[in-house]
Amino acid sequence: MKFFTFFAVASPLFASTVFADEANPVLVNPCVDTTDFLTADFCNVTLPLSARVADAIKRMTLDEKISALDSDTPEIPSLGLNRYNWWSEASSGVDTHGADDSGTKTTKFAFPITTGMSFNRTMWKATGQQIGREARALMNAGKAWSTFWAPVVNLAREPRWGRNIEVSSEDPFQSGEYATAFVTGFQEAPEDPRYVQASACCKHFIANEMEGSTEDGHEEDRQHVDSAVSQQDLMDSYMPPFQRCVEKGKVTSLMCSYNAVNGVPSCANDWLLTTVARDNWGFDGTIVSDCDADSDVFNSHYYTDTPEETVRDVLRAGTDIDCGDFVGTNAQSALDKGVITEADIDERLTQAFKLRFRLQHFDPVGPLQSISEADTVCSDHAIELSHDGLIQSAALLKNDDSTLPFSASSLNDVVVIGPNFNLSQSTAGYYGPDNHCLDAFTLVDSIAQFVDATGMAGVPDVLSDDTSGISDAVEAAKKADQVVLAVGTDLTWAREGTDAASIAFTNAQAELISKVSAAASKPVVLVIFTATPLDLTDVLANENIGAVLHVGQPSVTIMGAGDLLFGKTSPAGRTIQTVYKREYQDQISIFDFNMRPGPSPFARPDCTEDNYGDCEKGTNPGRTYRFFTGDAVVPFGFGLSYTSFDYEIVSAPKTVSMAPVEKMLASTKDQNKLFSSVEEQESGDTGYIVKVTNTGDIDADEVVLGFVTPPGAGENGTPLKSLFGFERVHVKAGESVEVTLYPGLADFTLVDEEGARSAAHGEYSFSFGVEETVVGGGGFARHTVSTEA
Ligand SMILES: *[C@@H]1O[C@H](CO)[C@@H](O)[C@H](O)[C@H]1NC(C)=O
Ligand SMILES: *[C@@H]1O[C@H](CO)[C@@H](O)[C@H](O)[C@H]1NC(C)=O
Ligand SMILES: *[C@@H]1O[C@H](CO)[C@@H](O)[C@H](O)[C@H]1NC(C)=O
Repeated sequence: MKFFTFFAVASPLFASTVFADEANPVLVNPCVDTTDFLTADFCNVTLPLSARVADAIKRMTLDEKISALDSDTPEIPSLGLNRYNWWSEASSGVDTHGADDSGTKTTKFAFPITTGMSFNRTMWKATGQQIGREARALMNAGKAWSTFWAPVVNLAREPRWGRNIEVSSEDPFQSGEYATAFVTGFQEAPEDPRYVQASACCKHFIANEMEGSTEDGHEEDRQHVDSAVSQQDLMDSYMPPFQRCVEKGKVTSLMCSYNAVNGVPSCANDWLLTTVARDNWGFDGTIVSDCDADSDVFNSHYYTDTPEETVRDVLRAGTDIDCGDFVGTNAQSALDKGVITEADIDERLTQAFKLRFRLQHFDPVGPLQSISEADTVCSDHAIELSHDGLIQSAALLKNDDSTLPFSASSLNDVVVIGPNFNLSQSTAGYYGPDNHCLDAFTLVDSIAQFVDATGMAGVPDVLSDDTSGISDAVEAAKKADQVVLAVGTDLTWAREGTDAASIAFTNAQAELISKVSAAASKPVVLVIFTATPLDLTDVLANENIGAVLHVGQPSVTIMGAGDLLFGKTSPAGRTIQTVYKREYQDQISIFDFNMRPGPSPFARPDCTEDNYGDCEKGTNPGRTYRFFTGDAVVPFGFGLSYTSFDYEIVSAPKTVSMAPVEKMLASTKDQNKLFSSVEEQESGDTGYIVKVTNTGDIDADEVVLGFVTPPGAGENGTPLKSLFGFERVHVKAGESVEVTLYPGLADFTLVDEEGARSAAHGEYSFSFGVEETVVGGGGFARHTVSTEA
């Protein structure tokens, strides 16, 4: 029910449609649990899937078919099925979404904005795997449905976006790799690859990265907005994570988004759903609408003159399941008026039922039915993995004079000061478990594992302007052996339905930080919790702040922070969002979806004119590290360690042949496709071997990032650089490991303004690591290579 408040803001229809019935999700398998369908083709496992699905649909009455198009599908007596709800959430743990009222606990994981920083595919996959297994175990126990609407693979392209917490990166390649790892883990159970363990869903397709904001009196929200997105940005920024999710992750569901893109609402966008996803990428799963997004095609976008025409357009575009009841309500009259035919409905149900068959809803009992709640949910493995999320992911942004790690033996007590000293439980239920099996650990608890620790807020909450508690905080800081500041944001700052109003600390938090750090007897450590990056210019320049640890939003999985602060493990996470100066928010509107720098069609957000039309237009300084032309406060990929590293390129190509690139592009064109497959894009034999040496005296993990700088970088919309590969490795003190990273054929191409990809000849620079980390002991190496004429 928690989502009710979020959706209610924008969509009052929502509550009445989806929460009508909260009966427990008991799945009846009509082919196993009853004898009614012994001879029915849909129960005959020797027949091909398509024949079984066709038989099931043929048996349904028209009324049953119509109501099966809605996400909360009532019973289907013709098939012996009881109610099925397509909607559950799982991005940071199984949320049975009010379907199970027995108080079942599941494991809560750190949000993707934290775990993305680990750059560890194994951890992403293990996390997806554990969540998917918990889902299957709860299905077996009659406590969960089978279709989960995670992960979110939109880009953290805008620092104010309310849903940055749910995503893994601002980078398209990394987002696609995260999706691949999470989805394969989630969907594939090793003991029975014939079936989908639990269905994952890559969302929100597409260009959804804005909730709703008012700038200079001008209001836009995700359900009404018609985002102008260039074909160039679609092809090389917004689309790639979804293509990877479909082709490499083999995801079984996609969700079309609320917004329209270039005049067409996503759920009615035949080009997007059918031409791109199904025909180009080979997507063969179910497309669900975001909740009430089908209704919004008619009621918010006014895309058609009648509701019946909207039904026609969403069905014919390829939206199979309507989260809501718009299609179910209007399909009969669309049939009556001849706007759609029964075949339109059958086509959508074919996609939807195919997935239910792949989930084993109609097949004999197998190994997956042995996944038990007792052995799986909240297992020791699950708890350890959830703690590991933060330990592997937190990024060390500053560590002057080895302020960190603390030595437990030489510290008496730590006081944790700041509005996030107790942040934990309040974020747990957001797209995660209603109940979770971890205690509501806080940063104070994580430190109390090592030394005495207490906490105080200093300012009442992250958004407050109240500075009256700061003097008490200053007194506490003077007395303490060591001060840790716990600052940043929480869900009141940004979340679904609410974009952040600012990318700067409030005045009260800024004052708390400067006064407490000045009063403390030695340099303080600042731990920043946030999913929307905040300007850290003053924090990084402040000599009273010795170290800064960025933890994203770990929620109740914060315990590992103690391990990092006290040096049980060295931090190795790398930032996944560019940190901009505050002025960024005054220059560019959140409504501006252009990735590339240039004049903005929207007014400067800091305009004070009474009339929006009189406002000066903003300037887009470029979005994300690939296009941002200014000086980042913290660049993408930044992160320090307690040890130091040296990188050496030990194997590099002498030249690059463009023949295979041209061949790939020609073959794509010959097949009349807009995209080369991910497999083709990643192929090629241009490999780099980088020798990574731990030159310090402690063992540590290291994330090796590979970037490509193409010819003409930064000119005419060409990216400044792009991530093409990454690997996380463990390197013992004094030892070396070799990391191999391959740019793929697509890394030698560029997308033009019309969205067409072509080979880019010239000089390429390949860099490993992030140059700004070198002064802090980070490794970095660069190599330049030219293409063959
Ligand atoms: C299942 O299908 C196969 C292949 O068509 C057929 O030989 C068999 O009789 C069917 N089984 C039942 C129980 O109808
Ligand atoms: C910390 O937060 C919890 C709720 O998550 C609350 O019950 C508790 O009172 C808070 N502790 C302090 C010291 O504010
Ligand atoms: C990656 O994650 C896995 C699973 O959590 C972990 O076992 C492994 O040590 C991690 N790899 C590195 C290099 O940190």
